Amino acid sequence: MATAIAHPNIALVKYWGKQSGSGNLPATPSVSITVAGLTTTTRVVAADRDSLRIDGQVRRDSKVNALFDAMQDAFELPPISIETRNDFPTGAGLASSASGFAALVTAIDGEFDLGLTPQERSAWSRRGSASAARSIFGGFATLASGDGTWTATELLAKDAWPLEVVIAVTAETPKPVSSSEGMERSRTTSPFYDAWCRSTEADFETACRAVAERDFGSLSEVAEHSCLKLHALMLSSRPALLYWNQATIKAIETVRRLREAGTPVFYTIDAGPQVKAVCAPGQGGGVAAVLARSPGVLRVARGGLGDGARIADDTRRRD
Ligand code: DP6
Repeated sequence: MATAIAHPNIALVKYWGKQSGSGNLPATPSVSITVAGLTTTTRVVAADRDSLRIDGQVRRDSKVNALFDAMQDAFELPPISIETRNDFPTGAGLASSASGFAALVTAIDGEFDLGLTPQERSAWSRRGSASAARSIFGGFATLASGDGTWTATELLAKDAWPLEVVIAVTAETPKPVSSSEGMERSRTTSPFYDAWCRSTEADFETACRAVAERDFGSLSEVAEHSCLKLHALMLSSRPALLYWNQATIKAIETVRRLREAGTPVFYTIDAGPQVKAVCAPGQGGGVAAVLARSPGVLRVARGGLGDGARIADDTRRRD
């Protein structure tokens, strides 16, 4: 039996849209931070037949099945029983699929002694969910193409620039349209899709430079731009993808007001209504206290930058 833990990551330059063909390859490069404080724990054990439990409920998941079938073929694995738990809402825009697939691949690697490198675990995770490729790494990570292949890498270690994250939870319910379905809808129906793909390369370069230079102002500007551009793309899809609620907009206003008053903070939002405030080191407490009082915010979660996916039991740790 092997147990792995992984944290979600929050994209600062977003991935939305896939290339045609197999392998779940993104159409655009992305930059993210891995966030401690939210954790997926996944236990894998060889069994008589495949089974999956998420937060105690028996589930069937076509993405998990497809990934596991591919790994079974590649490594001649027996059936497995998977038990996974999130200490945060599943499928509500908190990147549970990212931490989920990163933890699953890491646990399979541990259980069957596959000896995969972090890059290999990342590539397998990407096949389950592209954002999961980034959760194999801690701190700041990228998912980009180089030499014709798409790989995730660590851009900067978490301790090199210990940004803090405050998540304003505005709804605990699962999102109405999954990311995979939503991005396919945007690709096939939005008149903005080509512009999104063309312009994201420059955002990616800007964000990588901002991280390398620890330039919070530049990172704030490009991250909010990428976020709003993503949601403009979603809104221009048919039928429109509207993931926000009223509390989402209020929380955006709250973050803007905080920044105008001098707090180094910016917001980003994924395929869900939660607002993630990213702030300079030492600012998390103050930002959390203000966001907790923003109208409609149910609760806030706080975290620093986290480590990449790993085996929970240190004796079986591989990276
Ligand atoms: C808005 O990685 O969940 O969070 O590859 O289809 O599983 P699939 O999509 P997924 O999409 C993440 C979308 C996003 C932006 C991001 O994380 O880059």
